[in-house]
Amino acid sequence: MTFSTGRGVPSITVVDDISLTVKRGEFVAIVGPSGSGKSTLLYCLSSLQKPTSGRVNIVGTDVESLRRGALARFRRDRIGFVFQQFNLVPSLDARENVALAGRLARRSDARRRADEALEAVGLTDRAHHRPGTLSGGQQQRVAVARALASDADIVFADEPTGSLDGASGTRVLELLRSLAAGRRSVVMVTHDLDAASRADRVLVLRDGRIHTELTSPTSAEVFAATEAATSETTPQPSGAHS
Ligand SMILES: Nc1ncnc2c1ncn2[C@@H]1O[C@H](COP(=O)(O)OP(=O)(O)O)[C@@H](O)[C@H]1O
Ligand SMILES: [Mg+2]
Repeated sequence: MTFSTGRGVPSITVVDDISLTVKRGEFVAIVGPSGSGKSTLLYCLSSLQKPTSGRVNIVGTDVESLRRGALARFRRDRIGFVFQQFNLVPSLDARENVALAGRLARRSDARRRADEALEAVGLTDRAHHRPGTLSGGQQQRVAVARALASDADIVFADEPTGSLDGASGTRVLELLRSLAAGRRSVVMVTHDLDAASRADRVLVLRDGRIHTELTSPTSAEVFAATEAATSETTPQPSGAHS
């Protein structure tokens, strides 16, 4: 993924040469130093950003082949998002936010599933609160409930435990873990190395490339690999000081 920010400004490539296949039921975590391209990679994988080159295929559909309307329906039905900024609809209460995709898809059980999902994240008593009246952590859990209530084949999460205290964070990770136990897959960006160690596979990003790939690592192994990716110095042009 290359960004051009303006005429005369050199464009920058922030995600490069990544080939990734996520299996059904797999839980993949992406870690790496700040600015290493984690969010950009997640946006490209999840169809929210069109990569400058390369392809994304989700359950047999080439995402770039879809036109606007079809892409919007594909996202609604097949992809779950849990984002840093939550992206909840401010005018809808928690229950209606969670039920929204199901209702748009005319599923008769949308509200029942929303109630179950809110219960799973411990927010039954906040079902009729709008996002603006919820704390950051509660909004985060509404966003997780929305992914739980959906039929998504794959859920993308960017720092899903970023606004949560220890106990709620653990609960959200357990829920993501259980999502991935079935036929769904989860791809999570996190800087929480304990959280990453819950995943089946951990990708350590550095400068937009996969630096290390770990299978079912301990948090100590994730820590060591992240340290290695962070401390390795980028080659400097001769004469440059670091
Ligand atoms: N829309 C954009 N235009 C220009 N540069 C961008 C854009 N989005 C991200 N970047 C740059 O790409 C790099 C990687 O960003 P990001 O993917 O957010 O990293 P991370 O999530 O790992 O912290 C950063 O240097 C950031 O400034
Ligand atoms: Mg980020």
